[in-house]
Formats: sequence, structure tokens, C-alpha cells
Amino acid sequence: MSRFPEITRDHLGLLACPACRGPLGHAGEALVCGGCAARWPIRGGLARLYREAEVRPRDRLMRLFYDGLPSLHDPAVRLLLPVIQGVSEAETRRPIIDALALDDLPTDRPVRVLETGIGCGANVGLVHDALPPGVTVDYWGLDLSVGMLRKLPGRLRGRPLPTVVQADAHDLPFATGAFDRVFHVGGLGGFGDPGRALAEMARVARPGTPVVVVDEQLDPGFRAGLVRRALFRAVTFYDRHPHAPVDALPPGATAVHSGQASPCFYLLRFEMGEQP
Ligand SMILES: C[S@@+](CC[C@H](N)C(=O)[O-])C[C@H]1O[C@@H](n2cnc3c(N)ncnc32)[C@H](O)[C@@H]1O
Repeated sequence: MSRFPEITRDHLGLLACPACRGPLGHAGEALVCGGCAARWPIRGGLARLYREAEVRPRDRLMRLFYDGLPSLHDPAVRLLLPVIQGVSEAETRRPIIDALALDDLPTDRPVRVLETGIGCGANVGLVHDALPPGVTVDYWGLDLSVGMLRKLPGRLRGRPLPTVVQADAHDLPFATGAFDRVFHVGGLGGFGDPGRALAEMARVARPGTPVVVVDEQLDPGFRAGLVRRALFRAVTFYDRHPHAPVDALPPGATAVHSGQASPCFYLLRFEMGEQP
């Protein structure tokens, strides 16, 4: 039996073919597009909704690290963050959850939350714990690294598991306006095209709901010192100038807020209006 929640018939309206955005249907151990007839395999309960040939070289390179060392990722984050920035992982993640404005979610219907680059699921429990009474959440996660995703069920043992898919955040396999909250924490600076990923997050978010993105950026007011600066450079080796990608937001982004989640991480929040 799969360790991941299955994609059921009820989910199909939410999914869209990553190649043509056509509707998807089940066909044995695959999802098949009703538009372009592309076939997307499901292996071990995990739908693979991307084409390897279309993954950008930079994303392939970064995936080597995530696939190679998934067991180290979460312990390394927990141990390194206080050393580099003097602020714990828990304190760094708190403003992210606050920025999602979960208290504003409706209680009269299940709400959908999407976390792109979900990794091993470090934010899932935090979101569930912060949900106000009466809110029912349908949590979706997406990641390009199957190594990271395989760690997720074990890490979340005893917690509600999100429905996860293996896909590229540059081509989200979801219908336009499908989610009540969309967020991404870490790794965006290593993407081949961060602007494209932001546009995709904006597309799948319901108009007027917050989209939240967090990644490395040194707070200009933070007196890091040589050692901390060297460590920051080492963990962001793939990005010469780690910064909030405000200049890469999609046209029409409103209510833009860019600040620090912590001394080493920016928090960028925006909304989109009605899309054509
Ligand atoms: C720094 S980790 C953060 C994981 C998790 N969000 C957290 O807060 O602990 C970045 C994640 O983004 C994923 N990722 C990198 N490039 C991606 C892409 N193009 N599409 C989807 N996920 C990607 C990585 O595989 C990794 O799991």
C-alpha cells in the first residue's frame, strides 16, 4: 500500500496537465490528459507530473543535493540556523505561518493549501497547529526531489499527511485559482527561473489570497561578522546575491510586502487580482 494519500476522483478537478493545462483522468497507474493525451505515471502512490527533459539544468543540479542527502536536510536546518543567524528554526518559521493569515480562512467549506518545494514536510504540522477551530484543510505539497518526498511520511508520523505530487514548481500541475493559500519556503534562489515559479504560484492562488515566499537574504541591519557571513555564503553557494525577488513578481501583483522573516531570510507576500 502507498504511504502517500491517493489522488482520488474528487481531486481531479483541482489537477491540470502541466504540459497543456487540460483536465486529467485516471487510467490504471497513470493520470492521462484529456487535452493533449500526455500520460503521467503514478509510482508507489506518487504521481510524477513533469517531464525530465524540461527540467532546467540549475534545478537538476540542485536536485542532486536534495535527492542525495534528504536525511540531513532537516537536522542541518535545525542546527545551522541558530549558528548562522542567532535565531532558531522555530522562530524563523513563525512569521511564515503568521503571513499565511490562516485566521481569515473560511469555515463553511474545506480550504486548499499548496506548499511548493514541500521537502520533508517541516511546515505541515505548523500549519495544522495554527488553523483556527472549524477550518478544514486539504493540504497539497509538491517537490521535484523524490528523495525529500520519501522522507515526508516518516517525518509526519501521527500527523495528517498532505497529498503530494512530484512536479516542477515552474509548471504547476494545478488548475488556475485552485488554492486558498500558496507558499514556498527555501530553495527559490536555486531555481532556474524564479519569476516563472512566482507566476505559477500566483496563477494557482485564488484571487485576493496571500502568496508567501521565503528564502535567504541577509538583513542589512544584521551585524553578521566574518564567520557568519562565510557560513551564509557557504549555504547559498548557488546564488551570488540572495535577495527577495520583488523585481520578478508577476505583473498585477498587489499588496506586496517584502521584509525579513529572520536575520538571514526574507519574507515576500503578495496577492493577485482577478485573472483573465
Ligand atoms: C531548502 S528545501 C526546503 C524544504 C521545505 N520547504 C522546508 O521548509 O523545510 C527546498 C525544497 O525545494 C525543492 N525544489 C527545488 N527546486 C524545485 C523545483 N524546481 N520544483 C519543485 N521543488 C523544488 C527541493 O527539492 C527541496 O525539497
